Amino acid sequence: MKHCGGSRTRSRNKRGFPVTMSLPGRNTVSPPILSFATLNAAPHEVYRELRPEFPFVQREDGAFLVLRAHDVQPLVSDPRTRQIETELIRARGITDGPVMELVSNSLLFSNGETHRRRRQPLSRCFAFRMMEGLRANVRSLAEALVTLKLGDGEMKLRDDYAASIPAITIAAILGIPRSDVPLFTSMAYRVSKILTTSWTREDLPDIELAINDLSSYVATLIDDRRKHPRADFLSDYVASVDEAAQMSAVEAVMQIVSVVLGGTDTTRAAIVIMVGLLLDRRDGLWQALHHQPAMVAAAVLESLRFEPAVASIPRLAVEDISLDGHVIPRGSPVLLSTMSSLRDPDVFLDPGQFNLTRPQGKWHPVFGGGEHRCLGEALARIEMEEALTALVNSLLDLEVGDQKLNIRGHAGIRQVDELVVRWR
Ligand code: HEM
Repeated sequence: MKHCGGSRTRSRNKRGFPVTMSLPGRNTVSPPILSFATLNAAPHEVYRELRPEFPFVQREDGAFLVLRAHDVQPLVSDPRTRQIETELIRARGITDGPVMELVSNSLLFSNGETHRRRRQPLSRCFAFRMMEGLRANVRSLAEALVTLKLGDGEMKLRDDYAASIPAITIAAILGIPRSDVPLFTSMAYRVSKILTTSWTREDLPDIELAINDLSSYVATLIDDRRKHPRADFLSDYVASVDEAAQMSAVEAVMQIVSVVLGGTDTTRAAIVIMVGLLLDRRDGLWQALHHQPAMVAAAVLESLRFEPAVASIPRLAVEDISLDGHVIPRGSPVLLSTMSSLRDPDVFLDPGQFNLTRPQGKWHPVFGGGEHRCLGEALARIEMEEALTALVNSLLDLEVGDQKLNIRGHAGIRQVDELVVRWR
C-alpha cells in the first residue's frame, strides 16, 4: 500500500488544517497520510490492514479517519468533538452562494442551541411510531414498482426501483403532487451530491442551481401550507415553526431541504447494496428470505453493517484527542469511520462474514448517535424492509446481470453504480 508519508510537527496543510503528530516517546511510527486514490481503491483492505496498528489515519486533505469501533462510537457525542459547521466547505474555497446558505442554515451542520431549535420541529414527526404508520404506503409503492416491471424480465435496480422508493415516500410526506415527483426527485439527487466526497468544482454550478430550485420549491410548499393548512406533516411543521418563532424563513426552508438531502441518496444506495449483497451469495439466501420473511429485518441490518451506505460521520476536534498514543490535533476535521468500525473484530465476530444470524443491537451504529442521530432511521429501515420484501415475494429467481455490485467511496455517503437485475 502506498502512503503519502508522515509528519510529527503541528504544522498545517494547504487547506489550513493541522497535520498528524504523535505523543513524544509513545509511538515511533506516525499514522500514515493516505491519498484519496489509495483510500478509494480498496477501503476495506486499507482499514483492515491499518486498524490494528493505528487508531486513525490522516487523509491528504487533512481529515483524520478514526478506525476503531471503541473510539468511533463514543467520539460521535464526545465533548472533545463537535459537528462540523462550515469548515469543510470553506476549506474547499466556498464562502458564499447557495451551498453556504444551505450548510450554514441546516441542522445537519450546526451545534448546541441552534441545532436543537432546528431539529425540534422535525423530531416529533419522524418518531418510530409515526413512521410505522407509513409502512403500508411504502409497501404498496414497492409492490407497484415491481408489478410495473414484471413483464420486462429485467430492470435497472438503482434508477428504476431503489431511487423511487425514498424519493416518492418523502414527496408523499411533504404532500408533493404526484405529477411533480420526477422534478422533485431529480432536484433531490442533484443536491445530495454535496454530501458525498466525490463532487468537484465542475459539479458546483449544477449543485448550486439544484439547491436554489429545491429551496424555492420548498418555500412555495411552506407558503401554501401556511395559507391552507392540511392534516399532514408539512402543515404540522409550519405550525410548530411559527409557534416557536425561533427560525428565520431561510432556516425553515433549509430544514426541509436537509431532510430531503439526508433521506434520498443514502437510502437509494442502501437498497441497491442490500439487494446486490444478497444476490451475490450463492447459498440460497434469496430463496430463504422468501420462505422466512422474519429474516428480512436481519438482512437490512447486516447489509448496513457489511457495506454501509454512509461510510463516516463528520466532526471537528475542539481539543487535542489522544488515541492509543497518537494525537488528533485541535481544529482538525475528523471522520468517524462507520465503514471501518462496523468491521472491527474487537466488536464483531468474523466481521468479514455476511451473516444474517449475527446478533444486532436495537440501535444500528450506521445511523450515528447523540444529538445528531439520524432522524430518518425508522423510515430508512421501513423503506429497505419493504423494498426487499416486494422483490423476494415476486421475483424468486432474481439474479444480477453482467455488471456486479460496485460501491464507490471510503467516507461520507457512498455512491453505487447501476445494477441491472434479471428474472424469467
Ligand atoms: C440507510 C439510510 C440512512 C443512513 C445510513 C443515514 C445515516 C445518518 C447518519 C450517520 C446521520 C448522523 C450524521 C451526524 O451525526 O453528523 C444522519 C443524520 C440525519 N439523517 Fe440520516 N441516514 C439514512 C436515511 C435517512 C432518511 C430516510 C432520512 C429522512 C427522511 C434521514 C434524515 C437525516 C437527517 C435530517 C439527519 C440530521 C440529523 C441532525 O443533524 O440532527 N436519513 N443520517
